[in-house]
Amino acid sequence: MIRAVVLLSGRGSNFKALLEAGLPVQFTAAISNRPDAAGLDYARARNIPAIGLDHTRHPSREAFDQALVQEIEKAGADLVILAGYMRILTKAFVERYQGRLINIHPSLLPAFPGLHTHESALAEGVKIHGCTVHFVTPQLDHGPIIIQAAVPVQPDDTAETLAARVLVQEHTIYPLAVKWFAEGRLVISDGVVNVINPVQSQSVLATH
Ligand code: GRF
Repeated sequence: MIRAVVLLSGRGSNFKALLEAGLPVQFTAAISNRPDAAGLDYARARNIPAIGLDHTRHPSREAFDQALVQEIEKAGADLVILAGYMRILTKAFVERYQGRLINIHPSLLPAFPGLHTHESALAEGVKIHGCTVHFVTPQLDHGPIIIQAAVPVQPDDTAETLAARVLVQEHTIYPLAVKWFAEGRLVISDGVVNVINPVQSQSVLATH
């Protein structure tokens, strides 16, 4: 079974969905840069180490990310999952975990990277919006796309109603992406993810 560490900053509904999906994954820690993040409670309830690592107590982004790496290495991780983690990661961190660092973003990337995606979608008048799970690269909200889900934008939507409709999809696609990763089915070539079938993945795993 693969080991995964989850990084989060807030309510942790995606982390909850991952925990409840019955994945072939051992969650070895949940770490938050906000020690009071509600999402850490889901870890505590399941006896998963819940670690608060206050970024304001570190002199620089580099120093904080080094502390983060130490905690991740202590826990042991084949996969690092960003689930509403609201801090920009250093290039050194991203490069260290490249290929085993994934994120969920509330838009159909490459549209609307960054914050306030639902407001932006409404301002642009797009008729389809959604969410994306992707491998993380040093460029913010960029990187090989694993899976996306789309939702219609309704004429009377507010950012809140749209966010809620997207969130339902997030809770479906993130567990699926993690399952595929755990099964060794995600192959990146030329910046594009191919989801190979389980039989192929057995032979890929066998050669490692
Ligand atoms: C989600 O919308 C996710 O796509 C984004 O941050 C939000 C986190 O929500 N990266 P939660 O903490 O998982 O409930």
